Amino acid sequence: MAEKVVLAYSGGLDTSVLIKWLQEKYNADVITVTVDVGQQENLKEIEEKAKTLKVLKHYSIDAKHEFATNYVFSAIKANALYEEKYPVSTALSRPLIASKMVEIAKEEGAVAVAHGCTGKGNDQVRFDVSISSLAPNLKIIAPVREVGLTRDEEIKYAKANGIQIPTSTNPYSIDQNLWGRSIECGPLEHPDQEPPEDAFEWTVSPEKAPSTPEYVTIKFKGGVPVAINEESLNPVTLIETLNKTAGKHGVGRIDHIEDRLVGIKSREVYECPAATVLLEAHKDLEKMVLTRHEATFKQQIDTQWTLLAYIGLWMDPLREDLEAFIDETQERVDGEVQVKLYKGGLRVVGRSSPMSLYDLNLATYEIQTTFNQSFSKGFIELWGLQTKTFNALKKKTSEWKSTEASKVV
Ligand code: ARG
Repeated sequence: MAEKVVLAYSGGLDTSVLIKWLQEKYNADVITVTVDVGQQENLKEIEEKAKTLKVLKHYSIDAKHEFATNYVFSAIKANALYEEKYPVSTALSRPLIASKMVEIAKEEGAVAVAHGCTGKGNDQVRFDVSISSLAPNLKIIAPVREVGLTRDEEIKYAKANGIQIPTSTNPYSIDQNLWGRSIECGPLEHPDQEPPEDAFEWTVSPEKAPSTPEYVTIKFKGGVPVAINEESLNPVTLIETLNKTAGKHGVGRIDHIEDRLVGIKSREVYECPAATVLLEAHKDLEKMVLTRHEATFKQQIDTQWTLLAYIGLWMDPLREDLEAFIDETQERVDGEVQVKLYKGGLRVVGRSSPMSLYDLNLATYEIQTTFNQSFSKGFIELWGLQTKTFNALKKKTSEWKSTEASKVV
């Protein structure tokens, strides 16, 4: 009897070829799974396509809500920007997709799971580490990594096996979810050249953006966004709405030289309108409510959290250890942030919070204030004590050194 293999299926050429490949080379009964993390694909069409390729069964799983609340919201709380630029959008979806594949593999009694990752990227690491953490006995098949078919070979194989070939000659490799759109390949592989306009779909070019700015007010509760312009929205709708609004103003284009975890430097282009706005707004609000000591320490925690998400170690216990700290700080991150979107740019222009540490009485330069300026003189005496001591010593020793030197001569 043929053994069952669960394949992560996107409906594209690569993974369609994989269905046939697994059936032919592994004599497998293929079960396809498409996990909806907000990639805006037609799930019905994907299912039909899988069925024409004679899969044993197909699963479409709507994981948008889970993705938004358990993955994206954690990333917001951690101000997650890999190498200060990339909101780890693709990275975040991988452990979730892996966990759905494992669930189905267990339910179906499959012996293996398969994915279409190459051997050059980060995604293979994220899938494999997540899958084998959740199900150590499940085999992982990654034919693209093992065989390394070129695009031409793939097309030839597809034609020979009755697989529909995409009519458009889109040169890009795309990965989409609620949190962003990753665009790779083709002309983007030349980092010295500006990305062509046709690489972008979620954002207009700043030149084509409206010539009047738009203000958006985002309300946060416990470190996560809950409303836009006074309207409470569920996490998925809120992110989708912001992707549209910010995209319309050309906000969220990212062009980045990225260090992949396998050592390769690559030029990555992203469109992450909602992520760009929400991360900026969240970071700003944190500055109002966290003490300086909390905020500077948290930066290190955030960087480490982001790294784990990027390098495929979502399942490492360190992530949850870090989240214990992060979540504690986020309890006070309540309030509203006003953002101005204009011609590809975004600026936070206002913020308010019931938990704010900003005190007008202290901060104002008006004379009548609760801040007692006469205390500052004594404070500065002590604050600079060691610095002054050192400099006095330096002066003394250099005078001493120059007299010693003149003696030698
Ligand atoms: N460089 C990004 C990352 O590692 C995006 C990867 C896009 N993946 C893809 N299969 N096209 O997360």
